[in-house]
Order: sequence, then structure tokens, then C-alpha cells
Amino acid sequence: MQHTVHDFEAAARDKLDPVHVDFIAGGARDEITVRANEAAFGRLQLLPRVLRGSAVRDLDITLLGSRARMPVLLSPTAFHKLVYPEGELATVRAAAAAGAIMIASMASTVAVGEIADAARATDSDAQLWFQLYIQPDLEITEALVRRAVDAGCTALVVTVDSPVLGAGERNRRNGFHDLPPGLRCENLVDLRDGERGHVRQIAMSPELNWEHIDWLRGVTELPVLLKGVLHPEDARLAVRHGADGLLLSNHGGRQLDTVPATLELLPEILAAVAGRIPIVLDGGVRRGTDVVKALALGASAVGIGRPVMWALAQGGEEGVRRLLELLRDELDDTLALCGASGLADLTPDLVRVPAWAPV
Ligand code: FNR
Repeated sequence: MQHTVHDFEAAARDKLDPVHVDFIAGGARDEITVRANEAAFGRLQLLPRVLRGSAVRDLDITLLGSRARMPVLLSPTAFHKLVYPEGELATVRAAAAAGAIMIASMASTVAVGEIADAARATDSDAQLWFQLYIQPDLEITEALVRRAVDAGCTALVVTVDSPVLGAGERNRRNGFHDLPPGLRCENLVDLRDGERGHVRQIAMSPELNWEHIDWLRGVTELPVLLKGVLHPEDARLAVRHGADGLLLSNHGGRQLDTVPATLELLPEILAAVAGRIPIVLDGGVRRGTDVVKALALGASAVGIGRPVMWALAQGGEEGVRRLLELLRDELDDTLALCGASGLADLTPDLVRVPAWAPV
């Protein structure tokens, strides 16, 4: 039985092909940033208030018009069928049951329309967002956006940290470059004549620039979040170019190695956007205390990537449902212990950097 997020990883490792374990767990180069993300949460301390709690705590959020029953989003991760036969259908049913926002990856192994249908069939009002890599061929990009809009997605998350594919050296060593036969990136099928959903169809382009964001703003009415802005100057530019939000992310340490932990960057990014747009943070969130720290410092919500893949591998829909329940319970418990009646009570004074050097 899994009692922590890490237990799901241990269970999944027992089940999965080691090549696929490496694909999920791995990061770029020396994986320094992968480790930094989790470590950053461990370095911060919580300083709780007492004698001011309430019997029931409110975990609801509204983010860019999308309502959710917990402030934990499912960050976009590719290839869910690699770890579980139903793939993203299982994931979205679990997200819907938990009332959590799922961000479907452009590289999903189920088409976004089918993912949305599966969510709707649950009668939950949970929202689905779509992650997009802007393609240099703008017609293709527009067709992808249309697929997401037609599916009923309520926001677009544009990943901007991937001008080239991250150097996952584990994947190189393992020769893992492609989906196995029978699995496809379904969102890419038939975008143009003869396209078969091959992962290599996803162009990572170093030629993208802010004009592409301006162009996208003109193509869709959906809220647009940028995922992977790390420099405060880029955060200011994002606001200027009409981004509705940022997903502060270093791609789980899978793109440029040795960039800072996202948690470390949060104060600078918040200062740069100065309250004009919400910031969601992902990278290394594994505990209810991590969620509380990020929200207390000013994030509007957090995202989880690898934990979802591990839970899906371990137990499919049921696994992801239990993962989300676990995080919800930990979050609720942490709020109670911090003397908070809800997320609105989370303020920066609850978080401290240790004043002494740990031994
Ligand atoms: C990802 N991530 C990702 N990001 C994205 O924008 N598009 C994608 O298709 C993927 N695919 C993907 C696959 C796998 C297996 C992983 C682990 C990650 C990055 C993801 O959205 C997120 O930023 C990180 O995973 C967050 O860090 P944690 O929670 O994994 O530490």
C-alpha cells in the first residue's frame, strides 16, 4: 500500500521496464536541477500559527476562470500509454474525481478530444487544459489549438523552454528515442496529409520568439500561460505580451541542467509580475508541506509531473486517484497544523529560511 508520493515511485519501479523508469525519472545532463527542485522544499521551514484554525478547510481555487477542488494541477507529461494501457483516459478520470485540473500534453498518447470526452463522462466539472509546443509551421499550430478548443479545454499552456530537446543522457544511453510500435502522439495524427503521430513530428524550434506569442494571442481567446519562463526579465516580457499566467517550471530538470530550483526563483518571478498574473509552480512537489510552502510564498497553485506517471504505472486510474487523495489529505493536514482555515490564510510569514547553517 502507498502511504506517500515516494511509495508510488517505488511501486512503479518494480513494475516498469527500466528504460521507461529512466525516461520518467531522468533529467538533463548531470540531473543537478532534478535534485535541486526537491531539495529546495526541504531547506525551507514552516512556522505555524496556533489557536486559530477551523473544523473544515477550504482547498478550492479558481485559476484563470477554471475552478478546481485542490490547488494541485497535473502538469503535462507525455506518453501515458507507455506506463498504463488506458493512458491519459485513466489519468483524466482520476483528475476529474479529485476535482483537479489536468494539463494534457501535446505529446499525449490519447487525442485531446477523447481525453476531454472521458472527463465529461464522469460528470465532474474538472477542467482540462492543453499544453502546446508552438510549431514553426503556424498552420499546424493553429490546427492544434483548434483541436484543444473543440475539445473544450479552458486554457493553453505554451511550453517555451524547449528550443531544442533536453539532453536526457539516460535516454541516449538506453537508445530510447521513440514510442514503441502501436503507440502514437494522437494529437498530431492527420494534422497534415499523411502525418502518423510520430513523436519526431513535434518540432522543437530555436527560432520561436515573442512575436509567436503575439500571434497566438490573436488566434485564440483562451487564457494563455507560458511554461518555462525562468528569468525575471522574461516574466516582465510575458506580462507585456499578454500572457495570462506563468507556469514557473524548469521542466522537472529535463531541459537546461543547473538552472535554479523553481521554488528558489518564485520570489523573483512574483516580484517581476507584481501581482498582474498568477504564478503556478512545478518541480519537486512531493508533499503537502511543499504545496503549503509554495502557496504561502505566493504561488496560486502547484503542478506535479513524475508523481502522476508513477501512480499511473502503479495502479492506473485508481493509482492516480489515490495519489491525489493522498496529497489532498497531506495538504489539509498541513493547513490544520499551520492554523489555517483555508488557502487564503497561507502567508509568507509561515515560511522561513533557516537562520543557521544546518550541520
Ligand atoms: C514532462 N514534462 C513535460 N512538459 C511539457 O511541457 N510537455 C511535455 O510533454 C512534458 N512531458 C514530460 C514527460 C515526463 C515523463 C516528465 C517527468 C515531465 C515536464 C512536466 O510538465 C513538469 O514540468 C515536471 O515534470 C515537473 O516536475 P516534477 O513534478 O516531475 O518534479
